[in-house]
Amino acid sequence: MSRAVDVLLEAKDKYDRDGWFQSPELLAKSLIGELRESVERISLQTRPEVVYEKGSRIVRAIHGCHAFDEACARLVRLPALLDLAHALIGEPVYVYQFKVNLKQPYAGAAWPWHQDYAFWNREDGMPSDRVVNLAIFLDDTYEGNGPLQVIPGTHRLGIIEPGDERMIRATGDWRKHVSADLEHTVPLEYAERLIEERGKFLLVGASGTLCAFHPSIVHSSSDNLSGNRRALLLITYNSVNNVPAHPNRPEFLVGRDTAPVVGLEDGRA
Ligand code: SIN
Ligand code: MN
Repeated sequence: MSRAVDVLLEAKDKYDRDGWFQSPELLAKSLIGELRESVERISLQTRPEVVYEKGSRIVRAIHGCHAFDEACARLVRLPALLDLAHALIGEPVYVYQFKVNLKQPYAGAAWPWHQDYAFWNREDGMPSDRVVNLAIFLDDTYEGNGPLQVIPGTHRLGIIEPGDERMIRATGDWRKHVSADLEHTVPLEYAERLIEERGKFLLVGASGTLCAFHPSIVHSSSDNLSGNRRALLLITYNSVNNVPAHPNRPEFLVGRDTAPVVGLEDGRA
């Protein structure tokens, strides 16, 4: 992947305006292959980082893999990713969160409309939204297998207070932050109004696609009703100057190592 300054400036323009950005380049097939192997291996392990779809043993997501898996640990140190995160936030970054949402064939359940920053601010006391999600498609992703969808420009609305406490339902149970039965959601009628005003955009593309999306953008994804998996790897890079005030959730949801990530010397992407 190119890290030319003009590419990064273009990415930043689009990101600041719309709250998301899709890279025209793909990550190398060999890298995606390695990550897919790691995901398969980790999914078979019994550990708290592995989360299942409700009432089943179908893996919904795996978390914090950069702390115990070599391919994932290398990934978060790729200079191309670090340069992009740094360009979008404007400050050195550390890994706040790492996860892969697997959306298994015919079984991967939806993510209701929400803003990530609502969780991170309310649950962890993250002071500002100087933080960015980089999303890497591990599978070909299309309208049928439950792609991420975003409402452009909503990253500038701040945390949406729905005026309905049921939408927040903060129970202090982190499982409600990773399940289809989600807390801190944006009410459907509210999201529909935003879509009428601003439209929505599906993040689709071939395996190896890289997107960035803002922590305050309103986003969701639907059930996977297809026979094709939709694994989405998400790295959340936070500014080293934006460390949460009360990081009480498990370390695999709130990274405690807040030192700037050092890029790999032999970084390839
Ligand atoms: C998804 O994997 O579709 C949802 C990801 C997110 O909400 O950040
Ligand atoms: Mn989200």
